[in-house]
Amino acid sequence: MARLWLLLLASLLAAAGSDAAGIGFEFHHRFSDRVRQWAEARAVPGASWPQKGTAEYYAALAHHDRALRGRSLADASASELTFADGNATYLFRSLGFLHYAFVELGTPNVTFLVALDTGSDLFWVPCDCQQCASTHLGSIDLNIYSPGNSSTSQKVPCSNSLCDNQNACTGTNSSCPYTVNYVSANTSSSGFLVEDVLYLTTEDATPQIVEAPIVFGCGDRQSGAFLDNAAPNGLFGLGMEKVAVPSILSSKGFTSNSFSMCFGEDDVGRINFGDKGSSDQQETAFFVDSRHPTYRINMTGIVVGNSSTEMVFDAIVDSGTSFTSLADPMYTYIAETFNAQINEKRYKSESNSTFEYCYELSPGQSSFLVPIINLTTLGGSVFPVNDPVIILTGPANQTVYCLALMKLSGFNIIGQNFLSGLRVVFDRERLVLGWKNFDCYTVDNSTALSPSYTSSHTKEVTKTGSNAAQAPATNPSSYSPHSKTMSSLSPVLLMLSLALLW
Ligand SMILES: *[C@@H]1O[C@H](CO)[C@@H](O)[C@H](O)[C@H]1NC(C)=O
Ligand SMILES: *[C@@H]1O[C@H](CO)[C@@H](O)[C@H](O)[C@H]1NC(C)=O
Ligand SMILES: *[C@@H]1O[C@H](CO)[C@@H](O)[C@H](O)[C@H]1NC(C)=O
Ligand SMILES: *[C@@H]1O[C@H](CO)[C@@H](O)[C@H](O)[C@H]1NC(C)=O
Ligand SMILES: *[C@@H]1O[C@H](CO)[C@@H](O)[C@H](O)[C@H]1NC(C)=O
Ligand SMILES: *[C@@H]1O[C@H](CO)[C@@H](O)[C@H](O)[C@H]1NC(C)=O
Ligand SMILES: *[C@@H]1O[C@H](CO)[C@@H](O)[C@H](O)[C@H]1NC(C)=O
Ligand SMILES: *[C@@H]1O[C@H](CO)[C@@H](O)[C@H](O)[C@H]1NC(C)=O
Ligand SMILES: *[C@@H]1O[C@H](CO)[C@@H](O)[C@H](O)[C@H]1NC(C)=O
Ligand SMILES: *[C@@H]1O[C@H](CO)[C@@H](O)[C@H](O)[C@H]1NC(C)=O
Ligand SMILES: *[C@@H]1O[C@H](CO)[C@@H](O)[C@H](O)[C@H]1NC(C)=O
Repeated sequence: MARLWLLLLASLLAAAGSDAAGIGFEFHHRFSDRVRQWAEARAVPGASWPQKGTAEYYAALAHHDRALRGRSLADASASELTFADGNATYLFRSLGFLHYAFVELGTPNVTFLVALDTGSDLFWVPCDCQQCASTHLGSIDLNIYSPGNSSTSQKVPCSNSLCDNQNACTGTNSSCPYTVNYVSANTSSSGFLVEDVLYLTTEDATPQIVEAPIVFGCGDRQSGAFLDNAAPNGLFGLGMEKVAVPSILSSKGFTSNSFSMCFGEDDVGRINFGDKGSSDQQETAFFVDSRHPTYRINMTGIVVGNSSTEMVFDAIVDSGTSFTSLADPMYTYIAETFNAQINEKRYKSESNSTFEYCYELSPGQSSFLVPIINLTTLGGSVFPVNDPVIILTGPANQTVYCLALMKLSGFNIIGQNFLSGLRVVFDRERLVLGWKNFDCYTVDNSTALSPSYTSSHTKEVTKTGSNAAQAPATNPSSYSPHSKTMSSLSPVLLMLSLALLW
């Protein structure tokens, strides 16, 4: 069975991979100043950047202002922790369609741009490399960790309780080796464990730096998707196992045993350690397999527009998977029911497209209606899918949108795209998943970015194209969360980050 999945995944990746080579780092106009500064500090001379005065620059500033305005409201929140570099997360389409954050490690501190992955446990960064992704990301130079260069770095011996791979140890005092295999074909990271300082900050009125000693992987050898633009600067495992950073933070008393992530519909989001959510959030219990605990939830039904069905299945909530992937009958039910309620002409590419159900807009058409998709979870809470489609540009420059859902066999993954527009709380203490519609910036209720429902069954998606940067700054209510276009019909690279369980 395991082999079958891998074969399937391999062919999916092969189908999507043809464009990967030419893809550089993507500078999104809506990313905050922070990304620009970070990138500028690492930019190779001569690279082009949004200059002061351009639309992109002001759009970036507008975003920044919005974040600052949220701040005074946020002051009331309790002592949660986030990364010292800030709580912002960024969706990078060219880096495997995953959400990333900046983290600082070691003394002197070194910054890494890591992918946030609830589907695996170990945090690793490229380190004393034998086989790592290129450190040149477009015009940016990424960092590499080296235990010998950090005065606070400590060896993690095989005798350490976090050392899982005792079989590969050569003696109790030797460094603990690790190898993690991921579901994406041929994708792994290996090396040895180290302990060093991760810099966090309190999220209250007087932010204070917190130096948390954590265990992570010095990944000297990566393979597969990690060499092909997914998580090129490290993977931040947020799983339930004791080696995952949230587990370490709570076991050492830094935060309570919960964290939240919000993936904004404009690709910018946030992460907070210790966040236990709010009393008005929707919830469902995790179904925990004690041999390998994951964020698995049970579903009881699916609503697609004017149609609904009871369907019992379980799915893993994995921010490290690019697009939600479901087995049959769930996949076929959603896809065919969605398809039956679409007005646009079905689009089928001659070459292999990653998504099966795509539609072509007519020239000049700037918006379209899609059926609402809701998943009913065990217990009755409704999980709304805010952003089920992806907008692409076809070979003749036509605008194409696709149901961003993939077919898998054997298991189900709620990937990052189904998490957008929600604050998702991973409450590991109560063993529940919580969620609530949220724009990721304001403190509590969000109205600015809520989707425009045209009827009780459909919602309108607006294609705003490449000049979208100017719209949201002045008039948030006209802002469309779905102004996402890509230059190619095949997404560059897909990532399925689940650690292999077999
Ligand atoms: C995986 O690795 C094997 C052996 O190195 C290779 O033959 C195969 O083509 C690889 N598959 C993919 C999808 O890269
Ligand atoms: C966290 O996010 C909020 C809202 O965007 C912002 O006001 C606050 O300054 C951020 N805190 C940190 C430490 O980044
Ligand atoms: C990281 O190092 C830089 C340069 O020395 C320093 O300005 C910054 O405050 C450090 N960050 C933390 C979280 O200590
Ligand atoms: C470690 O420090 C040495 C000496 O400063 C430097 O040459 C080397 O590039 C550093 N290694 C890494 C991985 O940063
Ligand atoms: C392991 O290290 C400890 C302390 O560093 C030392 O006392 C002990 O002799 C070492 N054991 C072996 C087998 O090397
Ligand atoms: C949740 O799903 C799992 C796997 O399908 C099943 O074993 C379990 O009984 C379900 N839990 C409940 C409470 O229905
Ligand atoms: C649902 O809507 C589609 C088109 O929007 C229509 O063809 C179909 O008959 C409707 N189904 C039901 C059960 O109302
Ligand atoms: C589509 O994929 C199949 C199997 O991976 C391959 O044999 C075929 O050549 C591909 N077609 C195109 C047009 O790339
Ligand atoms: C598509 O649009 C781009 C810029 O808008 C233009 O340069 C290109 O020639 C167009 N291609 C086709 C096939 O029309
Ligand atoms: C959020 O919305 C709910 C219901 O719409 C309302 O009861 C609550 O007071 C709102 N909270 C804030 C802080 O505005
Ligand atoms: C989907 O869920 C939302 C939030 O619970 C609800 O307001 C809406 O009516 C549901 N839509 C359908 C078609 O079930």
